Amino acid sequence: MKIKDFIEEKVAEIKKTVGRETAISALSGGVDSSTCTVLAWRALGDRLKVIFIDDGLMREGEPDKVRKVFGKMGINVDIVSAQDEFFAALAGKIDPEEKRKAFRQAFYSVFGREVLKSRARFLVQGTIAADIIETKGGIKTQHNILEQIGIDPEKGFGFKVVEPIRELFKPEVRQVARELGLPESIYARMPFPGPGLMARVLGEVTPDRVAIVRKATLIVEQEIKKLSPFQAFAVLLSDKGTGVEGGKRKFGDIIIIRSVESKDAMKAKPTAIPWDVLMKMSRRITKEIPSVTRVAYELTPKPPATIEYI
Ligand code: XMP
Repeated sequence: MKIKDFIEEKVAEIKKTVGRETAISALSGGVDSSTCTVLAWRALGDRLKVIFIDDGLMREGEPDKVRKVFGKMGINVDIVSAQDEFFAALAGKIDPEEKRKAFRQAFYSVFGREVLKSRARFLVQGTIAADIIETKGGIKTQHNILEQIGIDPEKGFGFKVVEPIRELFKPEVRQVARELGLPESIYARMPFPGPGLMARVLGEVTPDRVAIVRKATLIVEQEIKKLSPFQAFAVLLSDKGTGVEGGKRKFGDIIIIRSVESKDAMKAKPTAIPWDVLMKMSRRITKEIPSVTRVAYELTPKPPATIEYI
């Protein structure tokens, strides 16, 4: 497949499908949603509404970064501030499955509201080939978002889903993203889970605890950049560990560094991070995040572990 031909073909297809109607795209800043947003923008211009739901569980500076990257391309992104709604849904929950359910519900509620408010007739969705295979195999339920937000695409509101990259696998999506002029910080991005930093906070998910893991994640990403791992991040445990400061013992947070090599996230092995890089991460994390008393590097492959902690 020629990438340029693919882009031309999809832009023409979206134009034809949407006609004179309007469409909405929910951008997450990941490579899939970014790619289909730019494709739809090329086809529809101002008849595409682009929203970014800020759930408070994003990495450092994410909403701003997305707005800047897309702003440079002439694409206006509406940031929907929904942090309070997400944290309220997660308050008091410590069971991983309960946390996932609460996140999903909050997401569908916010997203459903925005879709209806936009009066769009089409929803642009970054479904890729692997999502369809995993949905059919019962691994994921992320397909058919409209049904999940309580909108029957057939009846009800007359909505239709547009999935311009559904035939592509991740490496091809990255090529299309690059050809579309998206920056490397988007097309070469590490995978990031839908529920965001929630997947990396054990125990209760509060703004303060998310702030700790966000700072630690930034340090891990900065220090590991040269090694280009498949995925690297920090995790905050729910237990505490004793530390010592100014001759006094204190009980502090424990951060785990997780970095893995993988092709498709089905299997993974820990990255062989050089000792000096690990030591620098550990020093920076304890210095820049005073509540942290301990840092550890995780050595478990997948299986038996998963990549994320929740
Ligand atoms: P696990 O932890 O199952 O993760 O080994 C495999 C890959 O999937 C990502 N991941 C998610 N992505 N929604 C997503 O969109 C999720 O709920 C989710 N959970 C895990 C994870 O980052 C890894 O790349």
